Amino acid sequence: MNGERRTDHPDGNWRNVRFDVLERIDKLPSLSTVVHEFLALSRQEFFTAADFEVIISKDQALTARVLKVANSGLYARSRTVPSIAEAVVLIGLDTLKRIVYSVSTEGMTRKDMTHYDYNPGGGFWMHSMAVGLGARVFASAAPQGDLRPEEAFVSGLLHDVAKLIIDDYLPDPNGEKVSLETEHAAIGLDHAELAEYMLKLWNLPQAITDAVRDHHVDPSNTQCGGGGILLGLAEQLSDLWQVGRGKELDLGKDAPVERYLPALERIGLVPEAWDSLVWDVRHELTNIEELYHQTI
Ligand SMILES: [Fe+2]
Ligand SMILES: [Fe+2]
Repeated sequence: MNGERRTDHPDGNWRNVRFDVLERIDKLPSLSTVVHEFLALSRQEFFTAADFEVIISKDQALTARVLKVANSGLYARSRTVPSIAEAVVLIGLDTLKRIVYSVSTEGMTRKDMTHYDYNPGGGFWMHSMAVGLGARVFASAAPQGDLRPEEAFVSGLLHDVAKLIIDDYLPDPNGEKVSLETEHAAIGLDHAELAEYMLKLWNLPQAITDAVRDHHVDPSNTQCGGGGILLGLAEQLSDLWQVGRGKELDLGKDAPVERYLPALERIGLVPEAWDSLVWDVRHELTNIEELYHQTI
């Protein structure tokens, strides 16, 4: 955890950044319009499952992929899912959205990296998805989380996306874990700061770019908002259960509330709410390995 926000103005450090890093980012494809449209829809006061169907159905390739997953062994059903409209009925809107986000961000998360400690063969994807799913649970309950549930999910999915760029610039690890300081030394920014820049380029809402910038900030730092704290909490649970990092997934490990009290207080949650939230996050992560394999 980094105790301080590094800069009050996000553009303040840019003079230190390697020019070729920024050039590379400028050439990245932008985020799928489906993600933007989902976020915009969830900000409306009233929306229905049919509104989501319209967005998905406009993209034929996406529709085909979503239906393939909906028809995979992951979801037990008695009959085939022939359309997005029926997928909503048969697997539920929440699950459908999870598949859509997973497919629409796969170019950014389905990669193995050399220097970071995610498990090869999907560890980074699982970590990103787990933080997204956990953050969504916390955002649904936290009065001061500063993120809507949908925004929390997207923030979690993309919170470490800048590591994909930084990975190419890091020195040989020599068995050391990559720290924010190592990243700074390599490119002039850490992955949270660089991700903020990337997500701004993709025109994501400020609540998301702020949360991602602050996801390594300590809860005692009152300068950072609730979004970063919420992502930090989801990340701690994900790491406790070894999602995408460590030998094998272990959702059984206890998460005693004492460790998380400062963060809970900052986002307006009472300690009594913790156990049931942890249960919900655990439940969300149950099928995460299968989801990875089914959405390839
Ligand atoms: Fe992370
Ligand atoms: Fe991170």
